[in-house]
Amino acid sequence: MYLSPQFKPFIKFGLVGENMQAFLKGATQGVKPQKDKATASGSGENKRQKPVPWVEKYRPKCVDEVAFQEEVVAVLKKSLEGADLPNLLFYGPPGTGKTSTILAAARELYGPELYRQRVLELNASDERGIQVIREKVKNFAQLTVAGTRPDGKSCPPFKIIILDEADSMTNAAQAALRRTMEKESRTTRFCLICNYVSRIIEPLTSRCSKFRFKPLANEVQRERLVEICEKENLKYSKEGIDALVKVSEGDLRKAITLLQSTARLSTEKEITESIVVEISGVVPPKVIENLLQTCYKGNFEKLEIAVKNMIDEGYAATQILSQFHDVIIEEKLGDKQKSVITEKMAVVDKCLADGADEYLQLLNLCSVIMQQATQSA
Ligand SMILES: Nc1ncnc2c1ncn2[C@@H]1O[C@H](COP(=O)(O)OP(=O)(O)OP(=O)(O)O)[C@@H](O)[C@H]1O
Ligand SMILES: [Mg+2]
Repeated sequence: MYLSPQFKPFIKFGLVGENMQAFLKGATQGVKPQKDKATASGSGENKRQKPVPWVEKYRPKCVDEVAFQEEVVAVLKKSLEGADLPNLLFYGPPGTGKTSTILAAARELYGPELYRQRVLELNASDERGIQVIREKVKNFAQLTVAGTRPDGKSCPPFKIIILDEADSMTNAAQAALRRTMEKESRTTRFCLICNYVSRIIEPLTSRCSKFRFKPLANEVQRERLVEICEKENLKYSKEGIDALVKVSEGDLRKAITLLQSTARLSTEKEITESIVVEISGVVPPKVIENLLQTCYKGNFEKLEIAVKNMIDEGYAATQILSQFHDVIIEEKLGDKQKSVITEKMAVVDKCLADGADEYLQLLNLCSVIMQQATQSA
């Protein structure tokens, strides 16, 4: 039976098989009600740790807390001071602060009470076909609003419609937005958020100010992680933090999630490199090297067994692929051979993304590497 690395320590205590099942069941059952309670009562600083995921606990509460995205923060701060807000389009890789930024800005603009009336948040979990755009969005956009808050403070005389994960909207729905966006510009601002800007139709992008959210720089991530470690009273080593930064590749959400898992796994609440590597599912470089050497030997039967073993070990094929890629680039192969191999990698990557069989795909790739490598011999 394959166990993900998080659960390996339980084997030591004999928590396998049925016991393990019971443990997992108990864990999921136990977490749910507590989680509701935690969100209901806000993120109060209690001595006893509440099971709030750290990504939520440390989500930036105001625009100033958003790290590394200076341009967009500057624009939003201007509009918080009273200048007008353009329609916005945020795009960039996951975990770089897109959703957090607009939610924080909206909260600062309207305060907690008005927020519900003034902000319509739709994401990929909501139905966002053309019908919803025509009815829900259009109706909400048509409402007029006052320029003051109940507490007397002034607030911008417009509403915000946040369309998160806009790249999953159908083209027809996007097209339906075009005219609404223009017609209601006096009362409504749109904020579209997506990972792939190329999936947003041109007429919409040209109506918005575009902001690219960059993958977070290593230094910024490190700072943030160290800050969290200190707030959570964790012991950490420089190598441990570096390992977190390295595996997360600019995705701060991934880094924070990993940090939390690591903290939970290690008994002394210590963040060390070895635990991070184990928990992140990175394939040990030696294993990758061994597989590569098997490819070079040119024996297909042996290769078949090696690939099967890799999959049985539970390593994710996408992870193997990405590490393979880094290694192959550095290998002593001809340019032609490398190009054939990397092209195959692209195809395999696409197939894996579409849900193809991991074993077959990996074997396919390895056999191409074998073919190319043995040709030169
Ligand atoms: N620039 C940042 N500054 C501070 N914290 C950040 C930043 N980017 C990400 N985070 C952390 O990562 C978590 C996730 O960020 P967020 O939900 O904003 O990502 P996203 O860009 O919307 O990603 P996705 O494209 O997957 O929706 C936040 O809760 C926060 O803890
Ligand atoms: Mg998001």
